[in-house]
Amino acid sequence: MKNLSSLYYLLFIITASIIVSSCGLPNGNFPGSEYMPDMAHSIAYEATVNSYYYQNTWGGEDAYRLMAKSRKPVKGTIARGFLPFKYQNLEDFRTSADETHVVLQEKVRTLIMEDPTIVNPIKPTSADELGSLLQKGADLYSVACQVCHGEEGDGNGVLYNDGNGKYTAKPANFLSEDFLDAPDGQFINAIMHGKGMMQSHSDKLTPDERWTVIHYIRSLQAVKKGAEYNPVVEVNVSPSLSEPITLESSKGNGETHDAH
Ligand code: HEC
Repeated sequence: MKNLSSLYYLLFIITASIIVSSCGLPNGNFPGSEYMPDMAHSIAYEATVNSYYYQNTWGGEDAYRLMAKSRKPVKGTIARGFLPFKYQNLEDFRTSADETHVVLQEKVRTLIMEDPTIVNPIKPTSADELGSLLQKGADLYSVACQVCHGEEGDGNGVLYNDGNGKYTAKPANFLSEDFLDAPDGQFINAIMHGKGMMQSHSDKLTPDERWTVIHYIRSLQAVKKGAEYNPVVEVNVSPSLSEPITLESSKGNGETHDAH
C-alpha cells in the first residue's frame, strides 16, 4: 500500500513537471517550450524555404540554409520540357567587362530582332487548338501585360492612362505601325530581357507561356488590321516546347537558368 502511494506521488511529480515545462512563456523570438516539436517542424528540408529548427539534424544553421537554397541546374543538363533558347542569357553575349546591363540589353535586342530563325515555335494544328491557345494567351495577357499595354494592346493600360496614371513611361502600342510588322523576336526579347522601363517578365511566364502571349498579341493586331488571325498549320514540324527532348540534342548548352 505504501509502495502504491509513492508511485502515485512519483507520477504526479512527472506529470506536473511536464505540464509546467511545456508552458514556457514565449518571449521575443523565442516561441516558448514546445512539447513534441517534431509535430510542428518538418524534419525534411524544403527547397527554397529556410525553416531551420535547432532540433533538426541536418547540421547547423548555415548548412541548412545552403541545402534549402535554390540551385542552378548541373552544368550540361537541361530541365525536362525546357528547350534552351539561344538568347536566354544576356551574359552569353558579353564581350567586355565594361558593358552595362543596358548595353547588353540593346545588343541582344538587335540580334534577336535580326535573327530570322526566331519565330513562334507554338504552332496550332487546328482551329480548336488555336481557340484554346488564344484563350490561354488572353488570360496570361490580362494578368501580366494588360495593366500597362491595355486591353486592346494600344499601350494605354490603367497604369498609364494617357499619362495620368501612376506609371509615367509610355508602354509600347502594339497596334502602331512599328509593331504590326515587328518580328516575333522583338516580343520575346521584351518579355525575357525587358526594355527601357519595362522589366523582364521571365520570372512570371514560362517559355511556353511567353510564346502563347505573343500569339494573343498577334490576334489583337489582326483585329486592328481587320484580318483573321490564322497561324494554323497542317503539321507542326517545329519541336514542341513541352515535349521532353533527348540529352543528345541538348549537347553543348546546359545553361537553362534565367539570368533574372
Ligand atoms: C509595368 C508596365 C509593363 C508591363 C506589365 C509590361 N510592359 Fe511591355 N513595355 C512597357 C513599357 C514602358 C515599354 C516601353 C519601353 C521602351 O520603349 O523604352 C514596353 C515595351 C514593350 C515592348 C516593345 C519592346 C521593344 O523592343 O520596343 C513589347 C514587345 C512589350 N513591352 C511586351 C510586353 C508583354 C508581352 C508584356 C506582358 C508579358 C508586357 N510587355 C508587360 C511596360 C510594361
